[in-house]
Amino acid sequence: MEQEWQDQTNRMKGFHTQAVSAGDPPDPATGSIGLPIYPTVMYAQPDMETFKEVISGKKKGFFYTRASNPTFQAVEAKIATLAQGERALVFASGMAAITSTFLALVSSGDHIVAFQDIYGGSFNFLKNELPRFQVETTFVETGDLKALEAALRPSTRVIYFETPTNPMLKVLDIEKIVEIGKRYKILTVIDNTFASPFNQKPLNMGVDIEIHSGSKYLGGHSDILAGVVIGSQELMSRIQYIRYVYGGIPDPHTAWLLNRGIKTLGARMERHNQNGLQVARFLQNHPKVRKVFYPGLEDHPQHEIARKQMRGFGGMLSFEVSGGAEAEKVVRHLKLFHLAGSLGGVEGLVTIPAATSHRRMPKEEREKLGITEGLIRLSVGIEDLEDILEDLRQALEWA
Ligand SMILES: Cc1ncc(COP(=O)(O)O)c(C=O)c1O
Repeated sequence: MEQEWQDQTNRMKGFHTQAVSAGDPPDPATGSIGLPIYPTVMYAQPDMETFKEVISGKKKGFFYTRASNPTFQAVEAKIATLAQGERALVFASGMAAITSTFLALVSSGDHIVAFQDIYGGSFNFLKNELPRFQVETTFVETGDLKALEAALRPSTRVIYFETPTNPMLKVLDIEKIVEIGKRYKILTVIDNTFASPFNQKPLNMGVDIEIHSGSKYLGGHSDILAGVVIGSQELMSRIQYIRYVYGGIPDPHTAWLLNRGIKTLGARMERHNQNGLQVARFLQNHPKVRKVFYPGLEDHPQHEIARKQMRGFGGMLSFEVSGGAEAEKVVRHLKLFHLAGSLGGVEGLVTIPAATSHRRMPKEEREKLGITEGLIRLSVGIEDLEDILEDLRQALEWA
């Protein structure tokens, strides 16, 4: 019955339908509509023969939650359906998902090429941690495909990127990066956190592995840390093995919250997209704002690429006021936007990247990327647009 129901759901193509139903049909034992949570470490086996078969993977089943858990499997099936990948894996955090993926794909002597505008934690792992295992990363200017190709070596195993990027909202042409990866037989891996699987489907464009921090749009309520990796069965079994060895799994309650959050992902993203675009347009016309960075604006340098590969442009945007002191005044006077270093929740958030996430980067390097002291990053929430605009209007008077 479960399989039949799952097949039926998978045939329903709409994102919202799948978000609600894929992966977690009513519990066959009780009819429970809510997904059961399995708060267990281990699973009793009927006999030694079965135990041996389950532990060696010859027979489907569970033996220890660090390997898998029915609550994980439900949310993994839902995510795989939404991202249109063969299989998904859940992790304890976005960083657990990212580090486990690299640890599964590279060995001593291997090389990685990454675009330089990536999440600070990923940059730190590639630049400072992997070299301890003789794995080197070359960082190339974001979007420069010639530089990407020139940086490839016979030992390159992975091309790693994010789009849209943080905090400048640059957009990279996914199909062109995939074309280079395929030509040189190098795996392409994307951190798709900013777009979410609602706005962007990298696996359909040929990317090998898609990663998310589930702490952002997927969870959606700023109350869980989680991570997700999606890709082919073959790649996911390698990554699942690493998850088992290094132990970066979430607890079943977190997996359950992730599942519940994802049920409204499409509904929330539609609102993030609408509010994001309207806030960008408002800021673009504001006399105190020098520049707005949002892929949905017609004058964004990669607007056409964004239109080609994204269904909506999301709730993330940055804008520049005249200097650091002005930016701090604006942030201090915002009431609806909370000053906090995350994104993707239902509530509006604000940060000044030069003073927070990018504070360790030398000023010159930072400014080359466009991250000036007057740059403010917003994660636009799902509140009423008029309330959001009113908050920005009054705070900008102080700039
Ligand atoms: C784009 C991106 N990727 C990955 C991460 C890491 O995720 P987590 O905090 O869940 O480990 C973050 C966190 O801010 C992020 O913004």
